[in-house]
Amino acid sequence: MTDTNRRWLLKSRPQGAIKDSDFDLVETDIPTPGEGEFLVRVTHLSFDPTQRGWLGGDTYLPAVRIGDPVRAGAIGQVIASNHPKFRPGQLVQGTFGWQEYVVSNGMTETGPVSAVHPGITPEQALGIFGITGLTAWFGLTDLGKPQPGDTVVVSGAAGATGSVVVQVAKAMGCKVIGIAGGPEKCAWVRDVAGADACIDYRAGGVAAAIRAEAPKGVNVVFENVGGEIFDAALANLALRARVVLCGGISSYNDTAEDRSPGLRNYMNITVMRARVEGFIVLDYAPRFAEGVQALAALRAEGKLKTAEDVAHGFENCPATLRRLFEGKNFGKQLLKLADPPLPLA
Ligand SMILES: NC(=O)c1ccc[n+]([C@@H]2O[C@H](COP(=O)([O-])OP(=O)(O)OC[C@H]3O[C@@H](n4cnc5c(N)ncnc54)[C@H](OP(=O)(O)O)[C@@H]3O)[C@@H](O)[C@H]2O)c1
Repeated sequence: MTDTNRRWLLKSRPQGAIKDSDFDLVETDIPTPGEGEFLVRVTHLSFDPTQRGWLGGDTYLPAVRIGDPVRAGAIGQVIASNHPKFRPGQLVQGTFGWQEYVVSNGMTETGPVSAVHPGITPEQALGIFGITGLTAWFGLTDLGKPQPGDTVVVSGAAGATGSVVVQVAKAMGCKVIGIAGGPEKCAWVRDVAGADACIDYRAGGVAAAIRAEAPKGVNVVFENVGGEIFDAALANLALRARVVLCGGISSYNDTAEDRSPGLRNYMNITVMRARVEGFIVLDYAPRFAEGVQALAALRAEGKLKTAEDVAHGFENCPATLRRLFEGKNFGKQLLKLADPPLPLA
C-alpha cells in the first residue's frame, strides 16, 4: 500500500470537449475510516458518457461540485473496515469517483455500495452486468418491447450499451441493424455481436442505408447517439414503432452555440403513430438483480459476447473519458488501477 492518495478534482466546468486543465490532480494522505466506515482502494474505474453531463451542470443527478472528485462508478477492494457489513479483502462496487482511495459508510451518490458477486470479474461487474448491460436490457425489453420478426436499429452499436442491445434483440428473434463508426467496428457488430447488418455512419447516407436494409420500416429504434443519426432512424419508422431514447452522445460536448436547430424528420413520429420514450437506468435499481439474471442466462447460452477496452494509469483519467467522444473505445471503457487481491492495511 502506498502512503498517498491521488484524486482528480473538478477545477472548472468544461466547455466543449473536456481538457486535462478542467481538473486538478492532487495528492493527499490516505483517509482513515471512522466508526461505521471502511477504506476502499479503487481497482477499476468505469467511463461513461453521462460523466460529461455531470461535469457540465445539473442533470438527473446534481452536477459534480467544483473541487469534488469526478463522479464515476468503480470497483475496489476493502482494505480496512469498521463497518459490520464490509470486511477487509472484499471486492465492492460503488460510485467511488476518480480517486485511488475512498472512505465510505456504505452509501454513495447513486446508491448503496454492494459486494461484487464472486463469480463475476470486475470488468463484467462494470460492463455487461453493470450499468451499461442493464441499460441495454431494460431499455430494450421494457421500452422497446421487441417482438420476434421486428426490425431493430441500434446506434452506437459497437459500444458498451449498443453491443448488448444488438445481441439481446437478436436473441429475441429480431432483425438487427447496427450503426457504428468505421469498418472495423461494423465488422465486429456483424461478425461477433451477430447483427444482420451494420451501417458505417462515417461513410454518410445513413437514412438511405437503413431504408435499403429495412424497406418496410423499423419497429424499434434504440438511440444512443442522437443528432443526424437519430434523424435518419426517424425517417424510417414503421407503423407504431417504439423509439427508446437512451442517449445522445453526439451533443454532450455541445456549447449553447453548437446546439443543432433540431430534427428534420420528427413529424414521422406522428405519421407513423410512434412512441418515443426516454429513461434513466437508475430508476430500475429495484429490478437490477432481475436484469443481471437475464443477461447471465443469455451469456451462459453463448448469446452475449462482450468487448472491454481497458486503459491503465490513474493520470490518464481525463484522456480515458475523452476516448468515448472520439470513438476510440471498443466496447466497455474501463481504467484499471490495480489487480486484486491487494495487501490489507
Ligand atoms: N439512459 C440511461 O440510463 C443510460 C445509461 C447508460 C448509457 N446511456 C447512454 O448510452 C449511450 C452509450 O453509452 P456507453 O456507455 O455504452 O458508451 P459507448 O457506446 O461504449 O461509447 C460511446 C460511443 O459513442 C460513439 N460516439 C461518440 N461520439 C459520437 C458522435 N459524435 N457521433 C456518433 N457516434 C459517436 C462512439 O462510437 P463510434 O466509434 O461508433 O462512433 C463511442 O465509442 C450514451 O449516449 C450514454 O449516454 C444512457
